[in-house]
Amino acid sequence: MAFSHLSLLFLFATFLLMQTLGDAATCSDCFTHSRATYYPNSDEQGTETGRCGYGTFGATLNGGDVSTASDLYRDGVGCGACYQVRCTNSDYCSDKGVTVVVTDHGSSHQTDFILSRRAFVRMAQTTSEATSLLSLGVVDIEYRRYPGKNITIKIDENSNYPHYLAFVIGYQQGKKDITAVQLCETQNFVCKLLDRSYGAVWTTSSPPSGPLSIRMLFSDDDGDETWLTPVNNIPEDWKPGSAYDSGVQVNL
Ligand SMILES: *[C@@H]1O[C@H](CO)[C@@H](O)[C@H](O)[C@H]1NC(C)=O
Repeated sequence: MAFSHLSLLFLFATFLLMQTLGDAATCSDCFTHSRATYYPNSDEQGTETGRCGYGTFGATLNGGDVSTASDLYRDGVGCGACYQVRCTNSDYCSDKGVTVVVTDHGSSHQTDFILSRRAFVRMAQTTSEATSLLSLGVVDIEYRRYPGKNITIKIDENSNYPHYLAFVIGYQQGKKDITAVQLCETQNFVCKLLDRSYGAVWTTSSPPSGPLSIRMLFSDDDGDETWLTPVNNIPEDWKPGSAYDSGVQVNL
């Protein structure tokens, strides 16, 4: 009798534990409530002057569906992160919302996001509802980190082959942030730790020669860290202004 009571208790405890774990797992995909506005004078593109340092790449990144972040900028660590943002007024807003990439830092009307105008209207169900959204200016939203495209390395125009290499990292998925980057020779695997210059910009003078692979360290607030090496390399004859598909999406 005592035994079956004990096993019942054990079963119950296991059930509770699994439920807690289950809740935690679902909640990593949960939306966070906030507010968003848009740049009234922005055109169909993103921005070339954002604080993440994307330069001209920032104008066309994610087809112009980009955003300025306030707290989520986190001193540049939040640059390049992809978010699904949807407004919550069911009269106007679609369930899907829009997927944006963070390219700039700033704040306005206590919002977490200042979307490009293009991205802002994409949260609406139809074009006439987009007009209503625009006239509201600031809207209630919910957001979560979201898969975007493959992580992309864009060689900065100020790079000087082969002496000085600067690049930006765009389209970052998952919940973690890139907190360190190494540049490695693919032949003998000698790696060099790079400096985060600012925002999404990583630089090094005298980069290694030959095809280069980058290693990225993904970290979260809990101190959980993972190094990741993408499948594609930066070619030996890298060119300022070129963008290279890393061939990977992270889901860490
Ligand atoms: C992402 O990378 C994979 C290779 O790992 C490639 O097959 C795929 O086409 C890339 N996706 C995009 C959207 O470029």
